Amino acid sequence: MVTTLIMQLVLLLLLPVTRVSAQEQQHPPPQVARPGCRDKCGNITIPYPFGIGAGCFRDDGRGGFQLECNDTRSTPRLTVTGYGIRITGLSVASSEARAHLRATRRCYDNKGRLVSQSGATFVPLVGSHYLFSQARNRLVTLGCSSLGYFIDALGYYVSGCMAVCRPQQFTTPGSCTGVACCQSAIPPAVDYYEPFLLDFTKEHRDRDIAFYSNKTTCRYVFLVETKWLSTRYTGDSEYLNWTKDFAVPVILDWAIRNVGNCSAARRNTTDYACQSMLSDCIDSEDGTGYRCNCSKGYEGNPYLQDGCRGIHPCPVLLFCFLLLLPLHLMNCFAKWKTSTSVNTKKSNHATASAQILWEATLANVLLGPVEMLR
Ligand SMILES: *[C@@H]1O[C@H](CO)[C@@H](O)[C@H](O)[C@H]1NC(C)=O
Ligand SMILES: *[C@@H]1O[C@H](CO)[C@@H](O)[C@H](O)[C@H]1NC(C)=O
Ligand SMILES: *[C@@H]1O[C@H](CO)[C@@H](O)[C@H](O)[C@H]1NC(C)=O
Ligand SMILES: *[C@@H]1O[C@H](CO)[C@@H](O)[C@H](O)[C@H]1NC(C)=O
Ligand SMILES: *[C@@H]1O[C@H](CO)[C@@H](O)[C@H](O)[C@H]1NC(C)=O
Ligand SMILES: *[C@@H]1O[C@H](CO)[C@@H](O)[C@H](O)[C@H]1NC(C)=O
Ligand SMILES: *[C@@H]1O[C@H](CO)[C@@H](O)[C@H](O)[C@H]1NC(C)=O
Repeated sequence: MVTTLIMQLVLLLLLPVTRVSAQEQQHPPPQVARPGCRDKCGNITIPYPFGIGAGCFRDDGRGGFQLECNDTRSTPRLTVTGYGIRITGLSVASSEARAHLRATRRCYDNKGRLVSQSGATFVPLVGSHYLFSQARNRLVTLGCSSLGYFIDALGYYVSGCMAVCRPQQFTTPGSCTGVACCQSAIPPAVDYYEPFLLDFTKEHRDRDIAFYSNKTTCRYVFLVETKWLSTRYTGDSEYLNWTKDFAVPVILDWAIRNVGNCSAARRNTTDYACQSMLSDCIDSEDGTGYRCNCSKGYEGNPYLQDGCRGIHPCPVLLFCFLLLLPLHLMNCFAKWKTSTSVNTKKSNHATASAQILWEATLANVLLGPVEMLR
């Protein structure tokens, strides 16, 4: 009787599973890049409108979507053609790119003379599909005493801050509040970054003691993903001892920027980037342009004709369930049989034990495969 009950239970569970998996088999894997185009550089996924090679990226007169992958390096390097920016991540869902930015460095001897500095570190994004994200980046100056700032393409000041050390200087992790490290928010739609470090040398010592009482050998300025300050910057003396060059992650907002907004973009169907019928157009929140998003209940790449797919969270889980259930069942049943044969000898408790065992087995059968999935 128990066996038939279990069999019925199993059949009941399998019915919806087989139906869903049959449906799933009709779908090929979701597209990321255009057909016949590379969709990876090392472990970085390259979704259309980005692409490598002719016909693989969106070419609307603005730069930024054409990429190059250098495979000859030990870790393949992805760069933006014509801009030289190194990309470490691309997301269609958030319309963001993560880039690799070299910090600007200036080092001094104990007489306050400049002894070494980094090469050019400016990043021009003018006329491209990218902007530096206002929401997710900060300008950071590290080392004392120094005023770090950056200018725009016209040469005008954009943002900056001053870092000054104290005798007992070091701050707590992530607290970059002016002592040895300072941060400054940046305005929206920044498309050009050229950093500078203004140093405070010994010659001016008598002017204000607060600025000259303690120094670090090297001073840095860089634009960085805000998260870096809480996850990587430890605030201890190690950072102030740095004399090397280093790079940090910076977040870029990308959008389709050859047209100002969605309503303008929809007028030219050949140029309209939201190719999937199951997608929506969203005006860019940073600068001019627009982005595409798969409609509610769908996910994937809205920039491709068949890019958006329905979200089915169940099939994978159910498939595993289907695979594991018979195994688990056999195991459970074997245990149950051994237990009952032992139990029959103790006739007094047999009925009660069988009842408990049946309940335990049932619970096991139902929950076991789910547990095994975790
Ligand atoms: C890609 O590879 C690099 C280096 O091998 C690693 O540091 C990075 O975490 C990887 N990124 C992802 C998303 O796996
Ligand atoms: C790829 O990287 C290697 C190693 O740095 C370099 O020598 C080569 O010129 C690069 N190739 C291209 C096409 O940029
Ligand atoms: C600078 O700071 C360091 C670290 O706290 C300290 O050891 C040193 O005495 C300070 N120098 C001066 C001149 O205050
Ligand atoms: C920083 O440099 C000073 C002097 O060279 C050294 O005494 C100290 O141990 C260094 N601190 C760290 C954390 O490396
Ligand atoms: C969209 O852009 C067009 C042309 O640039 C402009 O005339 C229109 O006002 C814009 N619409 C909105 C909603 O911003
Ligand atoms: C529509 O877009 C295509 C491709 O970018 C372009 O060649 C064409 O001139 C545009 N048409 C209009 C009316 O703007
Ligand atoms: C894009 O679509 C997803 C899924 O429907 C939704 O969660 C998200 O909020 C959308 N993004 C924007 C900016 O509307």
